[in-house]
Amino acid sequence: MTGEITIALSKGRILEQTLPLLAGIGIEPDPDDLSGRKLILGTNRAGVKLVVVRATDVPTYVSYGAADLGVAGKDVLMEHQGEPLYEPLDLNIARCKLMLAGYAHRPLPTRPRIATKYVNSARAYFAQRGSQVEIIKLYGSMELAPIVGLADAIVDLVDTGNTLRANGLVPLEEIAEISARLVVNRAAMKLKHDAVTALVDGFADLVELAR
Ligand code: ATP
Ligand code: PRP
Repeated sequence: MTGEITIALSKGRILEQTLPLLAGIGIEPDPDDLSGRKLILGTNRAGVKLVVVRATDVPTYVSYGAADLGVAGKDVLMEHQGEPLYEPLDLNIARCKLMLAGYAHRPLPTRPRIATKYVNSARAYFAQRGSQVEIIKLYGSMELAPIVGLADAIVDLVDTGNTLRANGLVPLEEIAEISARLVVNRAAMKLKHDAVTALVDGFADLVELAR
């Protein structure tokens, strides 16, 4: 391999669902690093390390070259549009939907207030429908916003629908299908071409096998 390779992942489901893929291409994090609070995890592969960052920070680490590759949800990438990144592969993990959700049988006003952490995606969705909207940026627990009268509806991720149901909300419209993507720094794609390509191809074979 040419030089060192750093892969950015986020704690939680992205890390959990990427670890089996990494194992499939022969990369295993150091078990002590994994179970502790380290943010840089060594691996069994010389020169390959993992950095664990916030999900929304993965594109930033990769576009600035602090990591060569990363795994990020399409929801996060849609919010980071314009950052210089290659997105060579849909890993088909962490699948869910970005949805408009609200109350059943309660039509939205002409200029609804929408609570979301997906400000850009929500704005683009309403703009494309030609609808006026007021976006309220939140950082989590979006489902609470309609209940307390902060918003008419939300734009959030939905998988089983349990979180919406538990809070008396229903899915109204699907905005996008979401899954985690492999992203690659542009300079690394050139300067570490062989190592990066070997990893991308390895992941691609595993994704194909899992289909
Ligand atoms: P943070 O904890 O840093 O605020 P986060 O809550 O977005 O970030 P996760 O919940 O681990 O972090 O989500 C990481 C990614 O997993 C999301 O960007 C999305 O692509 C996907 N994801 C989120 N929720 C679900 C879900 N319920 N089912 C499947 N995939 C999901
Ligand atoms: C995500 C998302 C929704 C929920 C949807 O939250 O923000 O709240 O999953 O999944 P469901 O349709 O299966 O209920 P997550 O579980 O990641 O918790 P978080 O708020 O900590 O991100």
